[in-house]
Amino acid sequence: MEMPKKIIVTGGAGYIGSHTIIEMLENSCFEIISIDDFSNSTPKTYERIKKITGKSVTNYNCDLKNIEELEKIFEKEGEICGIIHFAAFKLVPESVANPHKYYDNNINSLLNILQCCLKFDVANFIFSSSCSVYGNISQLPVKENTPLNKAESPYAYTKQIGEEILKDYSKIYSKLEVIALRYFNPVGAHVSGLIGEDPINKPSNLVPVITQTAIGKIKQMTVYGHDYATRDGSCIRDYIHVTDIAIAHIKALNYLIESKNKTNFSIFNLGTGNGVSVFEAISSFEKISGIKLNYVVGGRRDGDVEAIYSETTLSKTELKWETKFSLDEMIDSAWKWELNLKSEH
Ligand code: WQD
Repeated sequence: MEMPKKIIVTGGAGYIGSHTIIEMLENSCFEIISIDDFSNSTPKTYERIKKITGKSVTNYNCDLKNIEELEKIFEKEGEICGIIHFAAFKLVPESVANPHKYYDNNINSLLNILQCCLKFDVANFIFSSSCSVYGNISQLPVKENTPLNKAESPYAYTKQIGEEILKDYSKIYSKLEVIALRYFNPVGAHVSGLIGEDPINKPSNLVPVITQTAIGKIKQMTVYGHDYATRDGSCIRDYIHVTDIAIAHIKALNYLIESKNKTNFSIFNLGTGNGVSVFEAISSFEKISGIKLNYVVGGRRDGDVEAIYSETTLSKTELKWETKFSLDEMIDSAWKWELNLKSEH
């Protein structure tokens, strides 16, 4: 039996990191080392992972901006086959209000983890990027080679800068093979209902706001704008189930480990290819829950793009990856998790 490959997952206690760890543990050819300082997550996540998979995960509570502490982890863990770098702050409105927090954390964390890659000879690197790198784009659906527009927020700009840094590193440091995965809008929760998005901070993303409004944590939600040039006036996004995103990371890792990559810096869109409006997402929730959502229509939100959704051919053909969850299944899994969260407290 082949020895499991040791993979470092930064941000392993986070929303996408934890769902990816679950899929990696189910597919047992990986040994996982998580690094998470719980700045937007809780250690409870690992109890939930154990409940679902029966397996424990080693986590180092380390701020990636602390290079001395970070290097000690690499020294202790020995040979690392790959890194999946999730750890980053990700709230668009917060990044507009507090750019230093985003540039300091997202860029310096990336530079430190890359310094460790070079120093400890780690070859395979998966970067958590975002569709927000495309900016306000008119030609839809977006392809990986669609020219990027100006980032609409500091958060999005940290992802554009991150991709440029990785492009330069992979060009010069020949051992480093990189994939940037551009997530569209990750939503939903593990089908067991035992884990899901559980942000420490008040959510700003649409689906957790919908479920928190329905369960009563939020009194009333606001639809930010209904005067966009879209089919119903509200913004269009490409919502994708978090487990579909998680499985794509395993496909991407194996694509590098099996040396299937054609260049040492590849980019893949992770979306369904379907655009869904805010009102359509609300209707889906009302249909699956039977609850009339308490919302008002307000003004537009700074940093929002009017519409964006993905062209998915490249990730299908290269990574042999396809999304499995429908919009109703995504929303249903998010609602099931919200109901379970209520029963946990
Ligand atoms: C979606 C739509 C809002 C809340 C960001 C990042 C992206 C990814 C997901 C990390 C917008 C509307 C929302 C509310 C609303 N981040 N909305 N009322 O901004 O598209 O994407 O988060 O992986 O990279 O850019 O996601 O869910 O915040 O907003 O009307 O209370 O829902 O205006 O049109 P966004 P979102």
